[in-house]
This record gives sequence, structure tokens and C-alpha cells, in this order.
Amino acid sequence: MKPLLIGPFSQLLPMTGLPLKGALKDEQLLLIENGGIVVSEGKIVAIGTFEELKSDDVDIHHIEGKTVCLPGFVDSHTHICFAGNRARDYAFRNAGKSYLEIAKAGGGIWDTVTQTRKATQEELVAGIVSRSKTHLRNGITTIEVKSGYGLSVEEELKMLRAIKQANEKVAATLVPTCLAAHMKPKDWNHQTEYLKEISTTLFPILKSDNLAHRIDAFVEESAFSPEEIKPYFQKAKTLGFDITVHADQFTTRGSKVAVEFGAVSADHLEASTEKEIQLLAQSNTIAMALPGASLGLGCAYTPARRILDAGGVLSIASDHNPGSAPMGDLLTQASILGTFEKLSNTEVLSGITFRAAAALRMADRGKLETGTWADFVVFPTDNYQEITYHQGQLKPSEVWKKGEPIHQND
Ligand code: NIG
Ligand code: FE
Repeated sequence: MKPLLIGPFSQLLPMTGLPLKGALKDEQLLLIENGGIVVSEGKIVAIGTFEELKSDDVDIHHIEGKTVCLPGFVDSHTHICFAGNRARDYAFRNAGKSYLEIAKAGGGIWDTVTQTRKATQEELVAGIVSRSKTHLRNGITTIEVKSGYGLSVEEELKMLRAIKQANEKVAATLVPTCLAAHMKPKDWNHQTEYLKEISTTLFPILKSDNLAHRIDAFVEESAFSPEEIKPYFQKAKTLGFDITVHADQFTTRGSKVAVEFGAVSADHLEASTEKEIQLLAQSNTIAMALPGASLGLGCAYTPARRILDAGGVLSIASDHNPGSAPMGDLLTQASILGTFEKLSNTEVLSGITFRAAAALRMADRGKLETGTWADFVVFPTDNYQEITYHQGQLKPSEVWKKGEPIHQND
């Protein structure tokens, strides 16, 4: 079979040639007019102008009308494996109760744990598949998915097996993360004993059954302290897991732990001050903004502008979960973060493409260049600026995964 030339796209944005760290200006963005992509066996074998790529050696898939093409989006932080919802929490919050007050009154994460424990693995798979399909229609071709609503060896395994099973059923790539350290389970008296049980019993199964290679923890006054989590992360590191941290969401001790353990990312950071910003910027830990949680909780945004200006890497993810971030629309949230934090289009788009892929340590996506997967999203416009301008309301006309069209909007 001949390689397939896809195009022409009015504007093709490969998201290449941009630094991983620091602020970005739109003048730095590479735009190929009337661009084309040549694909073979799911991967990109050439990229350039449509005219220069045309030859007898390729088949052609013509794209009609005005189009902007860019890498498939990467959502590098979600909790889309869950049962039930927390609309009651949302109403309580809007009536003035705080996140922590609601948790103490029986809402919060533990409520979702109770509902998720009651669900069968198959029910969880169905929920992940349905949410992943919505993400795919919105141009997201790689989705990180956390456990963390099981909070016991067996229930965390149920969640991670559900994520693995869902991955076989959807075109998107699902990247599993074990978040067994999401909160102190109410059925354990000693949180350190709980963490010990997870690290000695669950960690080896994650390895042997290939269920996750990433370990996350919520470092927060209401969850785990740095002192409690350090031995847990140490064990995870020794076993070769990547570390990622829910850090500085309400108070600021998590990002220091993240940097100390060489975490791939420190996520949330709404409470980070200049000290934490500098610490992150001077490290290789990626700062991950979760504007969906700010919108869901009605609290400050991650200081994205200051992180970038300090030289940090900024990735943007949806944090889609039933509690703090029920909306789940990455492009809407990233666009809104851009308006509040004064981010260039290049910074917003980088945060949901190659910088997000870097947070998952995936060099084979998030950019369109020879050797990366042909995962790309097409918008019906000839001006890429319209993508953030419409704040998520301009929907993709096509989404391609590994060189195959998986979604087309009429
Ligand atoms: O990332 N902060 C901790 N975890 C989630 C919230 C999960 C939930 O409320 O169910 C978050 O916002
Ligand atoms: Fe989260």
C-alpha cells in the first residue's frame, strides 16, 4: 500500500521548533500554508506543503474547504474512571460551603469512592468509554486516566483494570496512573499503614500486570502530608514508577515534594507563591494548570503567566472528575485560562499538545513531524486564532488517530 497524503490544509501547525520551557510568542509558531501530511502505518513519514508532497508514490486523501490542522490534543490529567456524580456538592459550594466543609459533611472524594466501589468493572468501563468518546470528538487523542476512587488494593485494581479494558475499546490512547493516595480512606485508622499496604501489595501487581507505570498522590492538609508521602514515593521511585503530584491546590507543600522526587509533573498549583514558582521553573518538573478545577470550585487559576515568565514548562489539563471539575472540556478551559492569564495562542496550544505529551513522557505525539503518530485534529477555519477565540465552541471537523479518520462532523 502506498503512503497516504492528506491535505491540503489552509494552515498546518506542526507545533515543532518550539522550546519545552518558558514563554512563547505567536511569532514563533510555525504555520505551513496549504500544508500536507504523508502517513504510512499510522505514523508521519513526511510533512510540508501539499504541492511539494504530491507524487505518483502516494495516494491522496483530499481535504475540502478551509481547515486548520494541528496535533491531536493530549489531556494529561483526568479522573474519568468514576461512578455517580456530585451535583449536590456543586450546589452546596455555590451556597457558600467550602470544599473541605463539604467533604466533612459526607460529600467530596469519599462520596465518589462509595459510589465507585458499588459499581462493577464493566460499569466503570462504560463510563470511561463514553467520556473518552466525548474527548475524541473534541480532538483529544491521548488521555491520562487516574484511579483513586477505590482506595483499597482490590478496588484500585478494579479501576485500573477498567482503564486497561476501556483502552482496548476506544481509539484514543488511555494512559493509566495509580492515585491510591488520593485521600486517607475512612476505613483505615492509620494512613501510613494504608500507604504501606498499597506500596507493598499493589505496586508489584501494577508492574506484573502492566496496569500503570505512574504513581500520583494528593499532597494536602486534607489528604497526605509530605512526611507521610515521602516513603511512599521513595518506594515507587525505587520500583521505577514515574511520579506525579497533586500539589499546592489549597496549601503549598506539594510542589517541593514533587521537585525533590523529580516528579514528571506537579499539578494544580493554584496556591503556589513566587517561591514555588521559582522552584518549579528551575526544575524539570512540568507545571500543570487545571483550569477546570478553578471553574468548578470558583477559585483562583494556576499562575500560568508567572510560571512561563519564570522559565517553567506549562501544560494544561482538564482534571475531569465528578467533584472539582465536572465540565471536562479541555479546549474551553484552556482558552479561558488564556484570557485570564494572558497567554499567547502558542502557549495555550503548546500546553495541550507537546508540553502535555512531555508530562506523560511521550515523545511520539503532541507534534507533527516525521516519526510521530499521525494523531491530528482539523478545525473548519483558515485562521488558527479562531480556535481559542471561540473558547471551545468551534468544534473539530475531523479527528484522526494513527492515520485513520475516527470522527467527522457534518
Ligand atoms: O484533582 N484534588 C484532588 N483531586 C481531584 C478532585 C477529585 C474529586 O473531588 O473527586 C482534583 O481536583
Ligand atoms: Fe486531579
